[in-house]
Parts: sequence; C-alpha cells; structure tokens
Amino acid sequence: MATISEMVAVPQVKQTECFIGGKWVPASSGKTFETINPATEEVIAQVAEGDAADVDLAVDAARDALENGPWGKMDARDRGRLMHCLADMLEDEFDELSALETLDNGKPISDARAADLPLTIDCLRYYAGFADKLHGQTIPVRGDYFTYTRREPTGVVGQIIPWNFPMLMVAWKWGPALAAGCTIVMKPAEQTPLTCLRMARLAQKAGIPDGVINVIPGYGPTAGASIVKHPGVDKVAFTGEHLTAQTIMKDGAQSLKRFTFELGGKSPNIVLPDANLEAAAQGAHFGLYFNQGQCCCAGSRLMVHDSVHDELVERIEAMNRDRKLGNPLDPATQQGPQIDQAQLDKILRYIEAGKQAGAECRTGGQRFGDEGYYVEPTLFTGVEDDMAIAREEIFGPVLSVLKFSDEEELVRRANDTMYGLAAAVWTRDIAKAHRLAARLRAGTIWVNCYDVFDAAAPFGGFKMSGIGRELGERGLDAYTETKTVTVALN
Ligand code: NAI
Ligand code: MG
Repeated sequence: MATISEMVAVPQVKQTECFIGGKWVPASSGKTFETINPATEEVIAQVAEGDAADVDLAVDAARDALENGPWGKMDARDRGRLMHCLADMLEDEFDELSALETLDNGKPISDARAADLPLTIDCLRYYAGFADKLHGQTIPVRGDYFTYTRREPTGVVGQIIPWNFPMLMVAWKWGPALAAGCTIVMKPAEQTPLTCLRMARLAQKAGIPDGVINVIPGYGPTAGASIVKHPGVDKVAFTGEHLTAQTIMKDGAQSLKRFTFELGGKSPNIVLPDANLEAAAQGAHFGLYFNQGQCCCAGSRLMVHDSVHDELVERIEAMNRDRKLGNPLDPATQQGPQIDQAQLDKILRYIEAGKQAGAECRTGGQRFGDEGYYVEPTLFTGVEDDMAIAREEIFGPVLSVLKFSDEEELVRRANDTMYGLAAAVWTRDIAKAHRLAARLRAGTIWVNCYDVFDAAAPFGGFKMSGIGRELGERGLDAYTETKTVTVALN
C-alpha cells in the first residue's frame, strides 16, 4: 500500500447500471438517481434506480446460478480460488478503486488507501481460505446408525449495506457468502453505489460465474424492501440503523427469513487514571473522528476519570485545532465531508442540542466552509448522561466527554445504553482491564487501542446493536444451513 504525496486525479465512472445475471441493464422503470460528490455537492453520475421488478429478475438469476449453474457444482477449492482472483483484481486496481471510493464517499484518500482497500482485500482472502474448510461432523448417536452433518449454503442471500465503508461492507458480505457457496442480491447504499458496481465488474472478470453476484442500486424502501419481502431470498444481511432493522424484521417475517444485523452504537471509551495519557488521547481522537465520525463503533462517549480529565481534553483540543479538513483527493487531508445533506443537518441539530442542554463546546460546533458537507471536529465537555449527545448515535465528528470518579458507578453508566457494539478501556492495570472487559456489555472490547479490525475477529452487537456476528469463522454461520444425515447400518 504505497503512500502518495500528490493530489489524486478524479477517477472515471464506468459502471452505473444494475448487474443482473452477468449483464449490465438499466432499471426496468428506466429511472435513475444521482450520486453526489459530498466534497463539492456536484453530481458524479446518474445510476440506475432499481426496484421490485429488478429485484425479481436478480433473485431469479441468483436462484438459477445456485441450482443450475456451475457455481453449485463447483469444487469448494475452486470457489476459493475465484475469490483470491477477485482479491488480485482489487490489488491491480488499488489506485483506481481508492480514488473512486473517495470520490463517492468523501473519505480522505489516505484513509481509503490505508484502511478501506487493504481491509477489503484481506477480508476476501480470509474467507477464500474457508471455502474448502466448511466441515460437518460425525456424531455418535444411540443405536446402529451413522449420523453426520453437512454444511450447505443458506441459498440466495440479500445483502443491504450502508455508505460509511462502501467497499469494505461489500467484502464483509460477499466474503462469507461466496465461501459458503451462496448466491447474492446486493443493494448498495444510494449515497455510494459506485465501488460496489465496480467490484461486481471485477468479480465477473475474475471468473465468478454470472448470476452468483447481482447488484441492484436504488433506495431502501423500494429496492431494499423488495429484497427483504421476496420469498425467494433465504437470508438478509443488513448493516445500518436500528430503526431500519426493525422495519426489515417485520417485512421479512412473512417468509421467516434468516437475519443478521450490524447496527449502531454509542460506545463508551473509558480512560482510567493510570492510563498512558498520550496513547489514550490519540486513541480517543482516532476512535471518534476517524472516517468523519461515521463509524458504527465510534467511541462517542469518552468517559474520563476526574483526575486526568483536563489534561486529556487539552490534548484532544490541540489535535482538533491541527486537523486538516479539505479536498479528500488531497493526500494531506485528514477529514473529509459527511456523506450528505441529511447527515450534515442531523449532526448540526445534535450540536445545537448539546449547546442548549448546557454542555461546553470546546472546539468546532459548526459547519466548515460553505461547499461540501463538512463539519468542524467538535468536542463537548461537561456532558451529562441524560443529554441527547450522550445517548443517541450522532454519526459525525462530535465527541462527548463525560467524567467519572467511581469505578462501580462507571460500569453501570457505561452499560446504561440501548446499544452494545463496542467499548474500550485505557489502563496500565492488566487485571483491571480484563475485569472491565468482562463486565462491559458490548460485542467488541478494545484495551489500550481502538478500531482494531481483523477479518478473523468476530464483530457484532449486544442489545440493539445487532443480531449475529460477522467476520471470523462464526461469520459463516448465517451463510450455511446444517443438515443432519442419519443412515441405518443394520
Ligand atoms: P439506513 O439504515 O436507512 O440505510 C442503510 C441501508 O439500508 C441503505 O442501503 C438503505 O438504502 C437501506 N434501507 C433503508 N430503508 C430500508 C428499508 N425499509 N428496507 C430495506 N433497506 C432499507 O441508514 P441511513 O438512513 O443511511 O442513516 C441513518 C442513520 O443510521 C445514521 O445517521 C447512522 O446513525 C445510522 N447508520 C449506521 C450505520 C452502521 O454502520 N451501523 C451505517 C449507516 C447509518
Ligand atoms: Mg434511512
């Protein structure tokens, strides 16, 4: 992953239609929607606006590929080899893809190159290695029988993803689905369809058979809901807001679909008095402001012991003042725009609510510039547990700092949230770190680090942060059905 020093050229947009059964086709309705460059608010391209009719065609193509195409009969090892080929193609187009991600999403090119692309490629390779390692068991049952289990693909899977890590979310979804031998109907977020469509093109070039991967760009209540309601879709994997997940659960109830949900959070990032403060400040800053604060696991509740509060806050303040906002295609840029006008408005409303509630705004607190959806890195101190900025997911560069003095009280307050996606603890006391890791109710706990992701480490939420786990070996559970076979031996 070579670093770069010069402004990156605006990449070409090549794929803008629905990808169904290996063909690029306009939406049946003929409709298109605009995808916007969030740094300039200019239209990048018109993209096919798929809906129910297109989803029907995509589900038929996926079913046909599963039951009649070469995919269903292919040796598992060859499936894995095709996935490695796709990863090779992403490596070949690393520069182009990272620039396209930055154009459509607004994330700094240095982040796309250091995080999104390498993690995407690594995830596909990790799951490629699983394709031929999905073993069943032999089971000693009573009587004269031979019983074994097979792990079979769940079938046609619907995958609905958000806009914050567009390519990486594709990899998190396609990786286990392809390894397990499923076929796919994916809907990328309406804000960021371009890299998903490019990846579909590369998957075809890599030799993944037509119909295995289908992509329907479009909106949630139309294209997304049609995938969820379709009786021919066996499972839905969704990443996004918990309110959307509730709608999806209702819509999928009729056909009793399998679901996995990766939802939001209000993750506590806890700094104990004995922490290495420089590391904790870096971690608190990165844990919230990375990706413009648009991370499901953002450490948005920074809970700091009284005795180190002021020093820690001063360090973060200084980092915020130095932060370079600007053109995301410039490698020197550290913070780009938010994804769209709706998110910009939502974040500014929360900032206003924080000020109204009496929290102290130490840096930022407003829009940056007048072109693009930029928000200044915002830091609130004096935040109380019941304020909206301490309870609700803001999904922007707004950090709420809360004080604590007592550790018992700390655990109760940290867990007093409807979410449970992640938490972090900064301390030099190893026993205390493990004790807290056990008591915090969240799917991922980081100790003296933040946002450390690996394709091998399961990720997902307690409580309203989700259902099921992605990544790691367990990430395959939702993409396989267990079949028990019992044979009489007498
Ligand atoms: P969203 O949950 O509405 O959108 C995520 C995906 O779901 C998109 O592809 C969207 O088109 C689709 N979708 C929306 N309604 C649907 C429906 N009825 N049926 C099927 N699919 C549907 O999230 P949105 O509106 O983009 O952002 C709202 C808030 O959600 C953000 O402010 C943030 O707090 C949270 N969010 C959390 C994410 C995470 O990674 N956990 C990612 C994106 C947003
Ligand atoms: Mg929504």
